[in-house]
Amino acid sequence: MPSVVQTRGFKNVIIVGAGPSGLLLALMLAKKGIPVVILESAPGLDKQPRATHYASPAIHELIRAGVMDDVRAAGFHPDSVVWRKLDGTVLAGLDATIFEGEPDRMTCLPLDKLGAILYRHLEKQETARVEWGSKVMDIGQDEDKAWVEVEKADGRKRFEADYVVGCDGANSQVRRCLFGKSFPGKTWDEQIVATNTYYDFQKYGYNDSNFFIHPEHWHMVARISNDGLWRVTYGEIPGLTKEELSERLPSKFKAMFPGHPDPEEYRVVNFSPYKVHQRLAEKLRVGRFLLAADAAHLCNPFGGLGLTGGIVDIGGLYDCLIGIYEERTDPSILDKYSEIRSKIYKEIIDPVSSENIRRLFDQDPDAALDNDEFLKMCKRTATDLDYSRELQLGVNGIKYDFTKEYTKEQ
Ligand SMILES: Cc1cc2nc3c(=O)[nH]c(=O)nc-3n(C[C@H](O)[C@H](O)[C@H](O)COP(=O)(O)OP(=O)(O)OC[C@H]3O[C@@H](n4cnc5c(N)ncnc54)[C@H](O)[C@@H]3O)c2cc1C
Ligand SMILES: *[C@@H]1O[C@H](CO)[C@@H](O)[C@H](O)[C@H]1NC(C)=O
Repeated sequence: MPSVVQTRGFKNVIIVGAGPSGLLLALMLAKKGIPVVILESAPGLDKQPRATHYASPAIHELIRAGVMDDVRAAGFHPDSVVWRKLDGTVLAGLDATIFEGEPDRMTCLPLDKLGAILYRHLEKQETARVEWGSKVMDIGQDEDKAWVEVEKADGRKRFEADYVVGCDGANSQVRRCLFGKSFPGKTWDEQIVATNTYYDFQKYGYNDSNFFIHPEHWHMVARISNDGLWRVTYGEIPGLTKEELSERLPSKFKAMFPGHPDPEEYRVVNFSPYKVHQRLAEKLRVGRFLLAADAAHLCNPFGGLGLTGGIVDIGGLYDCLIGIYEERTDPSILDKYSEIRSKIYKEIIDPVSSENIRRLFDQDPDAALDNDEFLKMCKRTATDLDYSRELQLGVNGIKYDFTKEYTKEQ
């Protein structure tokens, strides 16, 4: 006889990738008692210097997942962001302290620390597990199930589930299996270099986040810890090797940093060149396969919309899957997921993040306050508090409540 379990909309989920998005989805699903396996090619959590800042729509999901107290304790709420000229002159800024005490304020915590917190919570869930060293090579599906072919140290293995979610990042194998090389969009000509650096920017009156507008030395300096570590991300000449970029770092820092320091005056603890992209997968659903976060879409990191958008995908996908699981809607809601998250990427995340990077290198800093509509808006916030709230809350436009799409009453 059919057991109670079969009155549920489905039995289990496979997630490919134990990055922040995969860990978060696994945690949220497992908290509802859904069996979930994460297949991760690496032997452990990633350590690259990538995301640091998460805007309020992402914080909303971290609260729902029950991890925000830990995230807040490990990180901090940046006080402000300003746009400056290379000599340090402030053009305009946004004061984030007006949101003091509000639970979903923007929060800063480097990605590896966020991943560790998510993993610690996930380990406590009985219905979830991570299979490290499991590289997904191929996928397939039929009417009853989906499967993935995995390469492990001791050979190939097949895993099956009702749904498979590709959270396997920019080079997603799940996406490649679904769409081949197609990942529509563009790669910026600009080369960027991300570093984590100890230097006393506070002495020079830096705000927590600072963007510098300059045709050659455009860059960002943002505090990322409570012990003096800063993320310094800057533009470089395209076409150089990692070694060449590394050799040029001292002259770049001398030109960009206040006090024009020599190498013994700062300490670089991470250095990573990145090519940056604006891309959106053809679809975020093909049958039993879903794509989320970087596997689904990429944007340049200026403005911190990458993982923020990814985390919002995860919250939406969670609501869709729970709706199916609890039989409050049918699987066609997953087409809505694909449609609506893609639309939000195209209408908000892609254009806003593109403006964020272009603002830094593609204008005359001395004319920026006359020409750049966004900077003019920021300028206005200094004297108009209501407007400041409105402008800063604009990022909530990337949220979408998929429970509105449920078709049945509970
Ligand atoms: C310099 C920089 C700064 C950034 N700053 C910000 C920021 O401040 N705020 C923000 O919101 N975003 C930022 N981003 C973007 C953010 O880092 C990414 O959006 C985020 O890391 C994506 O998370 P993810 O879980 O989708 O993918 P990933 O973190 O890339 O994780 C994917 C996982 O899948 C695994 N995997 C890959 N292929 C396979 C396979 N075939 N089988 C099994 N496992 C596989 C990988 O090993 C990895 O663990 C920044 C990015 C860069 C480069
Ligand atoms: C930037 O920092 C300065 C010095 O702490 C502060 O006075 C200013 O208000 C900050 N800017 C914004 C936009 O909050």
